[in-house]
This record gives sequence, structure tokens and C-alpha cells, in this order.
Amino acid sequence: MRYFQKLIIILLLSITQLAHADDGYRLWLKFDLITNIQQRNSYTQKCQFIYSDNQEAITKTAQKELQAGLSGLLGKKILILTNLAGKKGGIILQVIQNEQTNQLAEDGFSIREENQNIVIRSRTASGVLYGSFAFLRQLQSGSSIAQINITDSPKIKYRMLNHWDNPLGTIERGYAGSSLWKWYELPEVIDQRYIDYARANASIGINAVVLNNVNASARFLTKEYIVKVKALADVFRPYGIKVFLSLNFAAPKLLGGAKNSDPMAPEVRNWWKNVTKEIYAAIPDFGGYLVKANSEGEPGPQDFGRTHADGANMLAQAVAPYKGIVIWRAFVYAADPKGDRFKEAYKDFKPLDGTFASNVLVQVKNGPIDFQSREPFHPLFGAMPKTPLAMEFQLTQEYLGFSTNLVYEAPLFKECLDSDTYSNGKGSTVAKIVDGSVDNHSLTAIAGVANTGSDRNWTGHLMSQANWYAFGRLAWNHSLSSEQIASEWIKMSLTQEPKAVATIQDLMMKSREIYVDFTTPLGLHHVMGQNIHFGPEPWLERSARPDWTAIYYHRADSVGLGFDRTSKGSNALGLYAKEVQTQWGNPDTCPLPYLLWFHHVSWNQKLSSGKTLWNEFSSRYYEGVQSVEWMQKQWNYVQSSIDPQIFADVTGRLAAQHREALNWRDACVLYFQQYSKQAIPAPYQAPSRTLDEMKEIVRIYQLK
Ligand code: GCU
Repeated sequence: MRYFQKLIIILLLSITQLAHADDGYRLWLKFDLITNIQQRNSYTQKCQFIYSDNQEAITKTAQKELQAGLSGLLGKKILILTNLAGKKGGIILQVIQNEQTNQLAEDGFSIREENQNIVIRSRTASGVLYGSFAFLRQLQSGSSIAQINITDSPKIKYRMLNHWDNPLGTIERGYAGSSLWKWYELPEVIDQRYIDYARANASIGINAVVLNNVNASARFLTKEYIVKVKALADVFRPYGIKVFLSLNFAAPKLLGGAKNSDPMAPEVRNWWKNVTKEIYAAIPDFGGYLVKANSEGEPGPQDFGRTHADGANMLAQAVAPYKGIVIWRAFVYAADPKGDRFKEAYKDFKPLDGTFASNVLVQVKNGPIDFQSREPFHPLFGAMPKTPLAMEFQLTQEYLGFSTNLVYEAPLFKECLDSDTYSNGKGSTVAKIVDGSVDNHSLTAIAGVANTGSDRNWTGHLMSQANWYAFGRLAWNHSLSSEQIASEWIKMSLTQEPKAVATIQDLMMKSREIYVDFTTPLGLHHVMGQNIHFGPEPWLERSARPDWTAIYYHRADSVGLGFDRTSKGSNALGLYAKEVQTQWGNPDTCPLPYLLWFHHVSWNQKLSSGKTLWNEFSSRYYEGVQSVEWMQKQWNYVQSSIDPQIFADVTGRLAAQHREALNWRDACVLYFQQYSKQAIPAPYQAPSRTLDEMKEIVRIYQLK
């Protein structure tokens, strides 16, 4: 009898698994039944009910999420009580201001066992929501909850996603389908995706969302669109998420019929005040504006002889009565063939330090050029102590192989966050500039350019879900390690089988470096295909702007390779603190990953690796391709621990990545070999394809 019972259970389990082949939609919020019965029982004992006497909408969300999560994990419905009546063995959510919660940052929480109940406590309802997801994470990843005692606070106030979504449903640099927002159906139709998107964000502490592209259509500021934005804000509010809009600086002229959009003109200032008033009437907790101005052809205050601060402060004044904020981007660069794009934002923004209104943040990309696979930290970090600087990372893989390449981005984010600016002595890391602790700012923000789209699994490449997850976790706490975040994500999203977890974690941890090796080793940068930024195009000599070509950056010649940014070259290095200059300014001490960012190195120069530049550089391309083959093998090892649909999908993408890695390798070694005039070093073989063949392959990528 027992045997038959077991058989039936096994059969039922496999049928349910087949029926629910995993399409990745549920992200890291799967909450499947815990199969280890002992563990499940031990959790069940402590999670017999959920109770809260707080009635805020966000607390209700927390209760609902706990109920859904626990019911799935434990295989039985966990009740939400309306009356505690001295019951023990359950979870209590408490929003309370007391000595203990006052020690926490806003939205911080504690999870503790008290009087045989587990109490999730915070000063705010959002904190209780974050605590509830943190508690679920313990169960999802199989951690013990005996004597649980966790205290956690976010280090940064605004943890944001920036969507680059357009009104017509396309996404700028989006590789996972079209926009999540169905503008034509809004406000009447509320897609379940909006709710699931909010759940996913709340589960990792993301509390702000910019809905539209920084290259903004003025349309979002019209009455027709404000009601649509309001509909989304209403969906997100119970998840503790505020909505922001990117704006088009020329809107007063485009929409309001003003003569121009000069931020000093009273008519223009009034127009912004009025439109802002309309937005807040519909969305009282609207977050504010994100602005890309005088950048890549977008309008801005400089069109009228005004500064970025003039523009930002005008908008800051409009949102101030409602406690809104303005996030002004520092992504600007003039088209100067003799200049160095590296220095442009610094040149424009550094002199403005101290002139921005108190509700303005300046948002700076992690590196000085544009989200390359590796960049040194942006020299503005540490250079504007009187201005809160927000960090902008890019989750969508514009320069990281779109959605066919497996690149776990946490190590890239960490490399930047952990860099020392020395702006206020040793230890003034970029992270501490951004979290406000170096310069005493309480207004702090970090943004990730979203990688989500309408693809069923949200991010195209399933493994890119980890980048969304990692961004949220690091935005909350930048001192978490990339390894820990990967391990959490794998256990919740893919498998808990220990060997498979370790194998996938290792593969993820190495993936970014592998991508760098077969695309832009040793600090080479900006040699990707024109316009779409896919595949290699190191031979690109002409473009609409000189600083959009490849030769502007790599500077290959018969002598060597790399952009001299020392005092003998553009002196961009001079923008950093002395300590940084000392380390990076000498080609012998400059870390190899940054070498060609700062130095023009001769082909025969011996590097710290013991190899000449040419040998090291060209070998990296071959090692990179071999490493992709290694990733494919590692992935095959974990097949039995992974859902078959997910396994097959990732397997296919790894094969595509391998094809693309070969293209990068052959294109780059053949192109640069023209300058080095040296053979491919043993044991590697020269590519079987010619440079002309590679150019043809890339040309096809670029055809419209
Ligand atoms: C990159 C990207 C653009 C984007 C811009 C920005 O240049 O290619 O599509 O608009 O960054 O961040 O504003």
C-alpha cells in the first residue's frame, strides 16, 4: 500500500511538472511546494497564520504576498487572521514607531521571533512589505528560520528602474519584446503583467519607476496620457512604488504653444507649474521628473544660453510644493573630433556643483562613455560634493550582447560601486558617494535602465532576470556580494540542488569577464557595430559624429593600440584624484583591465602577464571563445536539475553566443593584425575566415 501511495505521489508530481513546464514568467517568485518534508514541516509550525492590525494598503499587500507565497511553499492555505487573540506560531506584521524601528532607515525592517510568533516590524508599511519578501526568501532558499533575527535597512532612498519605453510600444535598446505598457489600452485595461511587475520589484526593494524613454515624447504630459500614467500609479502604489516621467524639455513649445522653452521665460515657467499641478492632482504621490537635456540632439536649456542648473531648478521649483524631485542626467557630450568624450560631462557639470536646488539629483552613468562592458568609474563621482549624484546602471544589454549573451552584471556593478574615488580620503568609494555617506546627502538614488519587455519570461534571456534581481538587491544594499546574490537568485529561480547551484554560480560569476575577453579585452572600448551596437565593427571610420566611430577610441596604428589619456594625451586621467592618477597613469601599474582606456601601448610592450601586448590581446579573444565553450559544458552538467523548457532555451542562447563570440574573435584579431603585423600566437590558429568575410557578416547586421 505504502509503495502504491508513493508511486501515485511521484506520478502526480511529474504530471504537474510536465503540465507546468516553466516559461520563466514567475521569475524568482515561484513558491513551488517545498519537497523536503522535514523542512516543510519545520517551516509550517512557525507559519500557521498571518496577522496585522495595520490597515494600510501596502500592509495588506504584504499579507496577501505572504499568504500566496507561504501557501505555495507549504502546500496548504495559510489564513490571514482578523483577531490575534493570543495565538502563537504565526507571523505578525507590525508598523510601529518605537525605539527599535527608529534605529532603522526609512523602510528598514526587523524579523524576529518574539513570544513564539515571528514579528516583521518596520516604521513604514513598505518596510513591512520588504520584510515579508525577505522572510519568504529565507524559505525559498531553504534557510533556517529557527530563532530568526534579521535587521535590514536600505542604504539608498530611491531605488529605481528607468524604462526606455516609447509611446508606440517600442523600447529604446530593448531586447525582450515590446513595451510592458499598453498605452492604447490604458487606463481602462489593467494587464495582470503590471501587477506581477510591481510584485517583482517590491520583492527586491525597488520603489520607483520612470515609465518612459529619456528621449521623451512630449505626449506623456498631455491630459490623455496623465490618466494612463495615473492608472499605472494606482497599480503600483500598494507595492510601495512611485511613478516618475521622463520629460521633453521643449514641451512648452510643442504642447503649450509657447514661443520657445527658455527656462527663464515666465510663460515657460508657468507652463511647467501648471502641467505639474495637473499631474499631482491625478497622482498625489507622483515622484517627479527625469530629464535628458542637450544630449544626443534632445532639447535643453543650453538651446537658450542657459545652464543645466537653470533648467533643473525651474523644474525643481514646479515639483517642490508636492515634495517631488528632479533627476537631471549628466550624459552629455559635444561632437568634437579633437576632444575626448571621456571629459565632456565633467566639463559641463563640475562647475555647476552647489548651484542645483535641494530637490535635484544629477544622474551619472557608471562610466564616462556609455555602458561599455568595462569602464573605469565616471570621474564626476567624488567631484561634486555639494550635489547628490544618482548612479545610472544599464540592465538592458546594449553593449553586452543583447539577449543572446549570458552576462551576469552584478560584478560589473560592484566593480564600479567599490572603486575608490579618494574624494574625501581613502575609502570614499563610489557606493558611498551615491548612498550620501561621504558628502552627507539624505536625498539619494540609484537607477537601472530596465531590461524588461513583453517576452513571456520578461527579459528575453532567462539568465538576464538575474540582472534585474541583482540590481534591486544591490540598490538596497551595495555591500552584498555578487556571489551571494547569484546564489539567492539561482535557488529561487532555477534549482536548489547544491552541485548545480555551485556550477551555475561559478558560470555566472565568470560570464562578464568572458564577454569582455572575446569582445574588448584589456580596456579596449567602443568597437561595436554602428547604431544597433551589436557585433564587432572595429573598422568603423566614419559616422554621423566622430565620437561614434571605433577608430576614435581604439587609435590602432603601426606602433600600438589604445587611447592615451595621460598628460601626454587627452589628460582625462587628470579628472581623477591623485591616488587614482598614480595607479592608472603608469602603464606598468595600471590594472590590465583598464590598460587601453588610458594608454597607447606598443604592440611589443611586455605586460605584467609576461606576454607582449599583441600576444596577450589576441590570446584573450581565443580564450574568450574557449570559455564560452566551457560555459556550454557547465550548463550541460546541470541539465537534470533544471526545468527542461528553461534548460533548452538557455542552451540555444549559449549556442548563439558561441557563434557571436567567433565573429567577434575573427573580426577583431584580423582587423588589429593589420596594425600589429604579427602572427596569431601559438597554440592558436589563424581564423579560417578573411577580414573581408567578417566585414560582410557585420554589414548584414547593419542593414535595415
Ligand atoms: C546610449 C544609447 C541611446 C540612449 C543614450 C542615453 O547612447 O545608445 O539609445 O538614448 O545612451 O542614455 O540617453
